[in-house]
Amino acid sequence: MHLGRTTLPKFLTEQLRDQPGHTELVSLIMDVASAVKAVSAMVARGALGGSLDVLASANASGDTQKLLDVTTNTTFLRHCEWSGLVAGMVSEEMDAAYDIPEPYRRGPYLLVFDPLDGSSNIDINVSVGSIFSVLKHEGTERPAVADYLKPGTAQVAAGYAMYGPSTLLVLTVGDGTHGFTLDREVGDFVLTQPRLQVPADTSEFAINASNERFWEPPVQRYVSECKAGAHGIRARDFNMRWIASMVAEVHRILVRGGVFMYPRDTKTPLRPGRLRLLYEANPMAMLIEQAGGAATTGRTRMLDIPPTELHQRVPVILGSRNEVERIERYHREYDAGEDRPYVSPLFNDRSLYRTEGTR
Ligand code: AHG
Ligand code: MN
Ligand code: MN
Repeated sequence: MHLGRTTLPKFLTEQLRDQPGHTELVSLIMDVASAVKAVSAMVARGALGGSLDVLASANASGDTQKLLDVTTNTTFLRHCEWSGLVAGMVSEEMDAAYDIPEPYRRGPYLLVFDPLDGSSNIDINVSVGSIFSVLKHEGTERPAVADYLKPGTAQVAAGYAMYGPSTLLVLTVGDGTHGFTLDREVGDFVLTQPRLQVPADTSEFAINASNERFWEPPVQRYVSECKAGAHGIRARDFNMRWIASMVAEVHRILVRGGVFMYPRDTKTPLRPGRLRLLYEANPMAMLIEQAGGAATTGRTRMLDIPPTELHQRVPVILGSRNEVERIERYHREYDAGEDRPYVSPLFNDRSLYRTEGTR
């Protein structure tokens, strides 16, 4: 027994013991953690495990599926379907909701997950992750689609695994966001980053800059002011990151602050965003808010959005609260017509916007 170490089940029991039925939620999260350990081993095998293979199939979002997308999806299903704790599951990799098969019993929770986030990084050996969200389910009937379409505020737990140099599990059950590191020798997730806090201010932003010409003006305005740095309206230099793995971006923000943006872009006009509400934006928004940050579409608090479909996409802006609030203000000014036509500050040495004293 490693004295003084807090393992995942001990931590969860201490956090949840006053809640009725908490042992079932602890057990479900432990099943998710077991799936994460199995996925960690699969990801770590890389090409040796055939993970570089691309399939001919596409998922509900139209993304080409990698073999690892499908095998990690199956791993989550096998680890979580048998316990009698889950009434059904929704995954990025399955068009329809997954019904619990006979002889297993349905239980009081719904599990929604992205089994492999950042799939495009698999063949270049860059960090990927898994994202999960837990909703309550009343009764033991087979869930209808509507049962999954609850706003993010209804989540009872959310988290992600990050398969990097170490395997991490970062989660919340409604009382802060906490990080655990997998001790591979023992097989325990050990509490290593209790009560993570997102700094309210930052000088680091993450966005796929290749889409700049397709963004809405308030996002163009914000990013351009960051790039103008010390000589621009922000009067300080900013740094930029883009890993193309949301889990890795969010983890960086939880550890040192920052703002992550995957905004609406007109590259695909009918598409409101790249990321999916139920199993990417909502769990990440809960984690970020529980760590003192903010998460929005630019116009609406993420966790308040009433979902309309399982694989619905949304614009995502999340991270350091003061920066997210600034970006929301830029959206309000733009929508109210108070924001002058966007002209890059590169054409003069000062921003065109009357924002004196708001540096
Ligand atoms: P997934 O691999 O589950 O489809 O998620 C990838 C997402 C997200 O993790 C990342 O931030 C974003 O897609 C990257 O998008 P681009 O490839 O357009 O940069
Ligand atoms: Mn994803
Ligand atoms: Mn995915």
